[in-house]
Amino acid sequence: MEFFLDTGIIEEIKEAALLGIVDGVTTNPTLIAKTGRKQEDVIREICQIIDGPISAEVIATDYEGMMKEALVLAEIHPNVVVKLPLTEAGIRTCKELSDKSIKTNVTLCFSVNQALLAAKAGATYISPFIGRLDDIGQNGNDLIAEIRQVYDNYGFTTKILAASVRHAFHVREVALIGSDVATMPLSALKALYKHPMTDKGLEAFLKDHANANKK
Ligand code: E4P
Repeated sequence: MEFFLDTGIIEEIKEAALLGIVDGVTTNPTLIAKTGRKQEDVIREICQIIDGPISAEVIATDYEGMMKEALVLAEIHPNVVVKLPLTEAGIRTCKELSDKSIKTNVTLCFSVNQALLAAKAGATYISPFIGRLDDIGQNGNDLIAEIRQVYDNYGFTTKILAASVRHAFHVREVALIGSDVATMPLSALKALYKHPMTDKGLEAFLKDHANANKK
């Protein structure tokens, strides 16, 4: 399973990179806006820190505009993955880009039918937003399971990228289901390390070691 970091904040990406287990980064227009910088500059800098897929999203909503932006984004670095919304224009752009061997991440996916369209269009990644489904009283993890089943039924190679992951329990659930990737904020990534029994056990080991080595 791959772990992506879901942020545009360079300091967070540098901190996560030191952990040695981050495979890529996802951004979106909201995350880029939080940086107060131009998307192109942020993406270029991220590509210098993490050697893996870096998602950068188009702003245009029409096919011609998406294609134009996508080609500019793809030129930034070979690791750039063009993120496209799950609309008619987004799926058409996805097909065109995958025919040109440009990597794509189809985002804002909320149904298995939408995920099917992305796979048909040759998307590299599909991003189902599980946290936002939970927010409206639906079960985001169920969507990951449905997409897993449908993709496996037909041998689609589009990778399931669980997005809108908010906490460690989401990571556990999508890992059990078989999501290919989870993208998460740094807080969720760091929460994966934590267990009170680990802390308690380590404290006891260190205490016993110190007592045994008293002069
Ligand atoms: C993923 O690609 C999205 O950028 C992100 O996971 C959205 O998360 P949110 O629903 O917490 O904003």
